[in-house]
Amino acid sequence: MKNVLITGASGFIGGFLVEEGLKRGFNVFAGIRRTSSREYLKDPRIRFVEFDFADRSKIVQTLEECKKTNFRFDFIIHNAGVTKAKKKEDFYNVNCRNTRNFIEALLQTNMVPEKFIFISSLAAYGPGNPVTDEPVKLSDQPKPIELYGKSKLEAEQYISNLTGFPWLIIRPTGVYGPKEKDYFVFFKTINRGLEPYIGFKKQTLTFIYVRDLVRLIFDTLATPYVRKAYFVTDGREYGSEEFATITKQVLGKKTLRLTVPLPIVKCIAITGEFITGLWGGVPTLNTDKYNVLRSTNWRCEVVPLQQDFGFKAEYDLEKGVQEAIEWYKKEHWL
Ligand SMILES: NC(=O)c1ccc[n+]([C@@H]2O[C@H](COP(=O)([O-])OP(=O)(O)OC[C@H]3O[C@@H](n4cnc5c(N)ncnc54)[C@H](OP(=O)(O)O)[C@@H]3O)[C@@H](O)[C@H]2O)c1
Repeated sequence: MKNVLITGASGFIGGFLVEEGLKRGFNVFAGIRRTSSREYLKDPRIRFVEFDFADRSKIVQTLEECKKTNFRFDFIIHNAGVTKAKKKEDFYNVNCRNTRNFIEALLQTNMVPEKFIFISSLAAYGPGNPVTDEPVKLSDQPKPIELYGKSKLEAEQYISNLTGFPWLIIRPTGVYGPKEKDYFVFFKTINRGLEPYIGFKKQTLTFIYVRDLVRLIFDTLATPYVRKAYFVTDGREYGSEEFATITKQVLGKKTLRLTVPLPIVKCIAITGEFITGLWGGVPTLNTDKYNVLRSTNWRCEVVPLQQDFGFKAEYDLEKGVQEAIEWYKKEHWL
């Protein structure tokens, strides 16, 4: 039985990675923090390893203890990361510096796995060209438009410059599914009868359902591919209205359409950032978020996924939203 370490196991995607690993018969090690919730990590087969990624010497200590107890990780899925942050520097610290600390500690302790999967994001490359509407390609120059994407890109650049390190970089687009909290805000808004839009331009969105994503990630482990990066979507493209239409259908709701013009959103973002910034914080709607919201082309190249892993999503948006909403209802989130 192979050992897999999944960092960020307490989070949305992490919990599904743990579930998939168990389903496939791996010894699953959930990499968490001392403070992490174990609410969705109840399976008795899960073994826990507590990491403090901010401190390289503590990671070294943890890895040495793993070695002493004969735990070596055949595979590592480094999924821990922040997509939102209270302080701007958290993006760099968690997504980039901590990743570097972790890899340096693996090298120092001679604990380099067969494969190290880094969960990056499409945000590391940024949106596609809004004029040509071409999908972002692996050969393009990355152009992240917010701190989150920049921090993921910096981590990618560090990883891909390592010689002989068996990395694979996975860049998912928006991931949705049960337990997810950001798209959930949209589902909740539709459920309350409001259909919000930002700006009047049509957007092309891409998605990946969490179960398809984790299936793909585990499929990559069994292949010889290393030192390559991939964008991940379900292979389809959706207009923002389509996302709302599907959600309305699944929820059986009629809605009132509300479009907030971009200059108003920008004003709110700048003002909020100024006021919250006085206390060193970052508001949920900030100028970074504004840049993301106003981008119209989130298409990206997925042919390499199909070529290397024969990947075909089992969930399109309709099937995924249906399953996610069923879960939110069952758990009384909706
Ligand atoms: N969701 C998406 O749409 C999406 C899209 C593309 C890429 N991604 C990437 O996928 C990964 C997982 O995202 P998610 O959506 O599952 O986010 P999430 O639910 O917020 O989970 C984040 C995980 O990272 C851990 N983490 C955060 N800060 C940490 C730190 N300083 N030290 C150690 N662990 C830390 C969290 O641990 P605690 O529980 O202790 O906080 C949690 O387990 C991230 O790397 C994200 O960038 C997500």
